Amino acid sequence: MKDGIGRTIDYLRISVTDKCNLRCRYCMPSCGVALIPHEELLTLEEIYRVVSIMADLGVKKIRFTGGEPLVRKNLIKLMKDIHELSVMEEIAMTTNGVLFGEMAEELKKAGLTSVNISLDTLDSGRFWKITGTDAHAKVLDAIKKAQSLNIRTKINCVPCRELNEEDIENMAALAQWENVDVRYIELMPIGCGKDFHGIPSDEILHRLEAVYGKGTPSHEKRGNGPANYYDFEGFEGKIGFISPMSHQFCGECNRIRLTAEGRLKLCLHYDRGIELKPLLRSGASDEEIRNEIRKAISNKPKAHDFTHAAQLESSDKRKMVQIGG
Ligand code: GTP
Ligand code: 5AD
Ligand code: SF4
Repeated sequence: MKDGIGRTIDYLRISVTDKCNLRCRYCMPSCGVALIPHEELLTLEEIYRVVSIMADLGVKKIRFTGGEPLVRKNLIKLMKDIHELSVMEEIAMTTNGVLFGEMAEELKKAGLTSVNISLDTLDSGRFWKITGTDAHAKVLDAIKKAQSLNIRTKINCVPCRELNEEDIENMAALAQWENVDVRYIELMPIGCGKDFHGIPSDEILHRLEAVYGKGTPSHEKRGNGPANYYDFEGFEGKIGFISPMSHQFCGECNRIRLTAEGRLKLCLHYDRGIELKPLLRSGASDEEIRNEIRKAISNKPKAHDFTHAAQLESSDKRKMVQIGG
């Protein structure tokens, strides 16, 4: 369906849990976050119902996010049921990769079409410093496993001055040797992200060009997200940039979000949205819920706003791990 300013909304990001098995410093406090009580989480049946209602509104792509989506029990069953609706052109997931390798075959069978794996460094010592765990090898295995199963794979890397500045050039080598896209994401001042300094995409492009030669903007479509892609000579995969801070992309936004506790969020940045759980749990019909969603989408904000004033007033005060990116 179209929102109030004519953007087509056909992509739903579903955060299935606020739990995570890593502690990336720009995303999650080292002590963790107060978790949503179990009874407040949407059940898998409730998520399925929302997805089928959204499918009637024109949603064609879903992405599971978290926290870490693979720590949610029975996610594979939910994925399979959604796949069997036969309306989704894409069923994707954004994961930290720790559990992905061991679950990849089942995920593929359940209908997973593509995966975005978060990885900020190729150095296991720095991985430990960033995530608080020694799971680096598991994430590297996950990338290999996704490749071997022909699951389309993108790597998400968030460059921070304090954490992984040394990794910028060598992360791109993953796209040189393997058919994976490596995407650099500008750190957004959300939650713990406020405590670190991101690195602008233009600077990263210059640094990559100094090592790998000139990048050429790519016109080939890679999903329908906010990334801009470049081709580098001799590379198997592409290099992407997601630049919410330096190049706003909200005019082409196509997405809405369902949080783990059942809020329909209309923009990553704002806390504005509607609570679907009371509707789901009070006997509302599919038609009533669909109408509420339609109304909400027609009021989707025009753009995110990372200014100081907006941070104080209208922003979502939760951590990224609770929103799902
Ligand atoms: P593709 O469809 O594969 O391109 O994925 P995606 O980029 O939409 O999803 P992913 O979960 O991999 O997100 C990558 C980064 O983009 C994360 O840091 C997200 O927080 C950020 N991102 C995704 N959607 C939005 C958005 O609507 N607004 C902003 N500002 N950032 C977003
Ligand atoms: N800014 C940008 N990206 C972030 N991510 C987590 N926190 C931030 C932030 N503050 C990324 C993760 C993951 C994706 C879902 O969002 O690294 O790849
Ligand atoms: Fe790291 Fe993602 Fe977990 Fe946040 S949700 S701590 S970015 S793995």
